[in-house]
Amino acid sequence: MELSTKPLSGMRQLYPADMRVESFIVEKIRSVAALYGFEEYDAPTLEPVELFLAKSGSELVLEQSYCFPDRGGRQLVLRPELTPSLARMIAASPELRLPVRWTSFPLCFRYERPQRGRVREFRQFNCDILGVDGIAADVEILLVLDRIVRSFGPPKGSWAIRMSSRTLASEFLEALGVDGGVHPAAFAVIDRKAKLPPEEWTAWAAEKLGGDFDAVRRFAACEGLGDPLLEQKLRGRQSLLDMRSLVETLGNAGVESISFDPCIVRGLDYYTGTVFELMDTGGENRRAVCGGGRYDNLVGLFGGKPMTGIGFGLGILTLKLFLETYGVLPADILSSRPPDVFVAVFSSSERDAAFAVSESMRTAGLAVEMDIEGRSMGRQFSMAARLGARFVAVIGPDEVASGTVTLKDMERGAQQTLPTASAVSSIVTETSG
Ligand code: HAM
Repeated sequence: MELSTKPLSGMRQLYPADMRVESFIVEKIRSVAALYGFEEYDAPTLEPVELFLAKSGSELVLEQSYCFPDRGGRQLVLRPELTPSLARMIAASPELRLPVRWTSFPLCFRYERPQRGRVREFRQFNCDILGVDGIAADVEILLVLDRIVRSFGPPKGSWAIRMSSRTLASEFLEALGVDGGVHPAAFAVIDRKAKLPPEEWTAWAAEKLGGDFDAVRRFAACEGLGDPLLEQKLRGRQSLLDMRSLVETLGNAGVESISFDPCIVRGLDYYTGTVFELMDTGGENRRAVCGGGRYDNLVGLFGGKPMTGIGFGLGILTLKLFLETYGVLPADILSSRPPDVFVAVFSSSERDAAFAVSESMRTAGLAVEMDIEGRSMGRQFSMAARLGARFVAVIGPDEVASGTVTLKDMERGAQQTLPTASAVSSIVTETSG
């Protein structure tokens, strides 16, 4: 039986051309995060299932995760997200200097139906600040997210960060008589509002919430932070003051992409306060590019000192699709970087000398591709041209005997024979800058 050439459905398989795009995106994100003093960390891919059952939400763990027993009978899960592992690391390190500003690029796994922007193995950028109780951390997290997206240059208005607050939502629902025990179901209903056709959402939500549906519908219909009912029910409450002050501070900092949206509540159970999502407003990428929020009770689950946190997860694939939609990925990342030098080898007798020359060029920082297939000189020159090498360095019997290389400048057509060291420095001079 022949083996299939296809990987498992939804699993990540990136050819070099895809990897170049991903690396470009990752490096850009990394450089923006560094401007805010973030440091990178990593955590295990395989985790005990209890870690996620505690607070991520049963849907994510029981319906969307790869769970299996290991050889010792322990129930394990391929991490569907990183935040619980981060919380555990923080809880285990009480000596950390606060605030913690950490980032990571984990591979995550979710057993979802593969579709545009949704796969089963994906890379996420995670960015979190822990140990700051007030909204200054919320501001900082949203500033870094806004700057990351802007750094790619998508057109103005093509994306928006929508945010709300679970505390504010809870207080509003309570004020309208919805019991606290119903709030998780109410959040699930609000979360699905934009995902279902209106009649379907209404019928499903009314059945799920019964008499509480009207209050939930009213909250979801709030038009901005100036909504009269919001003002009437939450006047003077910290949750409303915080949301207003967050919007105002971000506005003063020049952020134009952020607004209040009561329909953002997020699917993960651990969120406590501010919650937000980044959406493509053009509608071509319907799933969120990024989601995050405040989780003030997660670190405390591990015993020891509780600690507040806020952060987000940004899907690298969803971001890539978004950037492609608006044509803002630079064209030159789609082709591979040409070598500075192609080392052409006259025959197998010169191969050892050619390896030595190639190595000395690499030591000088040059990207070198050397013929290792024993092709004819003509084919080696064609290959060098196809690769886009700036120089071809020919190593033949005369060059080996005299410690020289014959250097052809492929751009100018000029050719000269030089001692190896001079050839190397001349290429370095020509190719730098
Ligand atoms: P999340 O909303 O579950 O949040 O995921 C964040 C982002 O990961 C999504 O907006 C999406 O871009 C990407 N993503 C999620 N599932 C998939 C998938 N199946 N295929 C491709 N991309 C996907 C979290 O994971 C939180 N732990 C984020 C966080 C960090 N909150 C606080 N700190």
